[in-house]
Amino acid sequence: MTTSAELIEVSERRSAHNYHPLPVVIHEAHGAWVTDVEGKRYLDFLSGYSSLNFGHGHPAIIQAAQEQLKNLTLTSRAFYHDQFARFCAGLGDLTGKDMILPMNTGAEAVETALKVARKWGYQVKGVAPEQATIIVMDGNFHGRTTTIISFSTDPDAHDDFGPYTPGFRIVEYGSADAIREAIDDTTVAVLLEPIQGEAGVLVPPDGYLAEVREICSAAGILMIADEIQSGLGRTGRTFACDHEGVVPDVYIMGKALGGGVVPVSAIAADEDVLGVIRPGQHGSTFGGNPLACAVANAVIELLNTGEYQARAAKLGDVLHARLAEMVGHGVVTVRGRGLWAGVDIDPELATGREVSKALMERGVLAKDTHGSTIRLAPPIVISDEDLLWAVDQLADAIASFRR
Ligand SMILES: Cc1ncc(COP(=O)(O)O)c(C=O)c1O
Repeated sequence: MTTSAELIEVSERRSAHNYHPLPVVIHEAHGAWVTDVEGKRYLDFLSGYSSLNFGHGHPAIIQAAQEQLKNLTLTSRAFYHDQFARFCAGLGDLTGKDMILPMNTGAEAVETALKVARKWGYQVKGVAPEQATIIVMDGNFHGRTTTIISFSTDPDAHDDFGPYTPGFRIVEYGSADAIREAIDDTTVAVLLEPIQGEAGVLVPPDGYLAEVREICSAAGILMIADEIQSGLGRTGRTFACDHEGVVPDVYIMGKALGGGVVPVSAIAADEDVLGVIRPGQHGSTFGGNPLACAVANAVIELLNTGEYQARAAKLGDVLHARLAEMVGHGVVTVRGRGLWAGVDIDPELATGREVSKALMERGVLAKDTHGSTIRLAPPIVISDEDLLWAVDQLADAIASFRR
């Protein structure tokens, strides 16, 4: 088993078909470039759905991981370890919050936020037992657990996985009025993505996040921002909420927090919120482990320089200017912020999958979503030349369907 064809055949035969990968088998990667088993190079324009914001094998992150591998990898939270305090203090400072609760995957961190919001609702807000509701958005994507998919509006994610967890009210994304109307005495929180990634990089109307913040404060409910994909530099700021000067009550983080090395997720909140969790009420064997914390500490240091946020903003302007020129030439619309874009291909021309394949043949790896949209999220360390080259390949790939 050495060729791409052989490896793909066995992978398809011996794994569940819960993904539909592009036919490329990656063997190694550095920075923004990956190499397949046959030695062909591709520019990574997906970054593990924003998990690789700092590129593949960032020297500072790899060094932190290697040093930690030699010293200590796991203790469980039954004991303290020497990377934990720095992680919580560092991430707390980055978010401006008092406390951190670490987990591993994004979905676990979302579950954590939901549990904290419910407990806070009963213990602090005084909601009647078992009655708490959380307002969520249509088109949301927060992960794959049974509770999270209970309030998904995507039939693939949702259907045939019931019975579903109650306690969620789905409203229109981007409408502050819809949130106002959905709030009642049982409401404990609003959960949203500041930009909906999986839905196609949907940016809500200007002022929406600030309005949601005001509504939550006035109603005495928690604003929870799922910044798992939008946060940690991707949009040109540390958090997508920063674009509107909004500070949510709870940040949910994941993906890039693990530096593309290990899964690391966490929620951040002040003590009046996160303080409701007591020993034994929530946890994870691997959450906050020494290797995860050491890697995340390196990531936090990179973010503290501000360089990556600035670079994503600068390159984002270049990317969006170039993509805007493609509208009307096989592209219907382009959305996004910073180094993150959703490109709607003219459905008359080709599907997103077809364009992704044509792009792959031209040496760029990106991924389609929802039929005719392609998501672009290159590592922030990508060079200016590589960025422009990749967009040229996209233009050429789209043009190939018009010839
Ligand atoms: C906004 C958002 N929340 C949650 C998740 C789930 O993260 P994970 O796949 O690590 O469970 C994702 C993953 O794409 C995401 O984009």
